[in-house]
Amino acid sequence: MRRKKCRDLKNMTALTIQAEQLELVYLLEKEDLGETGKQLLEGLGRSPKTISPRYFYDAKGSALFEQICELPEYYPTRTEAEILKTVSPEIAEITGNTELIELGSGSSTKTRFLLDAYQQFGQLDYVPVDVSASIVEFAAEHLFQEYKNLSVTGLIGTYEQAIAHLPDPEDLPRMLVFLGSTLGNFSAAESDRFFKQTRQSLRSGDYFLLGVDRHKSTDILEAAYNDNQGVTAAFNLNMLSHLNERYGSNFDLNNFRHRAIYNVSERQIEMHLDCLQDHTVEFQDLNATVEFQAGESILTEISRKFELGKLRDNLAMQGLKTVKVWGDRQDWFSLILTQVI
Ligand code: AVJ
Repeated sequence: MRRKKCRDLKNMTALTIQAEQLELVYLLEKEDLGETGKQLLEGLGRSPKTISPRYFYDAKGSALFEQICELPEYYPTRTEAEILKTVSPEIAEITGNTELIELGSGSSTKTRFLLDAYQQFGQLDYVPVDVSASIVEFAAEHLFQEYKNLSVTGLIGTYEQAIAHLPDPEDLPRMLVFLGSTLGNFSAAESDRFFKQTRQSLRSGDYFLLGVDRHKSTDILEAAYNDNQGVTAAFNLNMLSHLNERYGSNFDLNNFRHRAIYNVSERQIEMHLDCLQDHTVEFQDLNATVEFQAGESILTEISRKFELGKLRDNLAMQGLKTVKVWGDRQDWFSLILTQVI
């Protein structure tokens, strides 16, 4: 196994578990419920009220998201997978062997197309990043059965933590992989900050592969976030159950209704929970109450839809030069390979 060094772990609750070819590096600091609770209440004190999309993903929410990816209306996952399947050999040809670092790796399903293509180089170095250690372990176990000469270094933490503590493969360039248009959850300012941090953590010549959903007709976009079976509605409402679980609140899901609209001028889907009647929600563990009024809504997610020219400019401004862009036939989704100059 190739040796890796993790820099700057001094002040972290870093713990390394090493199995045969699997190494897990824990970057997560112990969650401070007081601190995250304060942020939650801050968001609920704003107008409009907001809740961070990170609260979508408890066990039930993650399962619902997997279900969303299979919906006929939700084209991004399958479109991106199609593109990756087609162009991964070309990506491997352009970059040569790299260490593959994937942000938000989850079940590593789409990654397999990249791993298939990079297998020709003999040694596969894969660094999945996820907040869930069990998901990374589960994914790695399956990958070990499918790939020879695979070494997996899982970084258990947030994107920011991972980017700040990338292992050093010494003799290989790296490719940071960020798929699924998760970038769309970031505001324009957050996205620029993320590109800047990405650029700073990589070295000149390293690659950054980004998958993004594109601006398109409102009908297609709104259908993708208002599916007929109501899975997206359940996913959105489940956030409130998650909060009840985590902060001892008493949200009644019957008091809210899912709504998703495409804000064309902002080029973003906005997911809301509309409040249907006046009521008060108590947060027992936070010693707080929040008033809700009929007709108001909670913003739970933005999902930005990108224009290629602007995005390339933003990447270039942070020192990430576009090498090549691939898309599907309808240009609904794009895969952008950039390189640190
Ligand atoms: C995981 C952020 C890419 O924005 O499409 C799916 C989440 N929300 N349906 C997206 C989501 C509603 C998804 N991302």
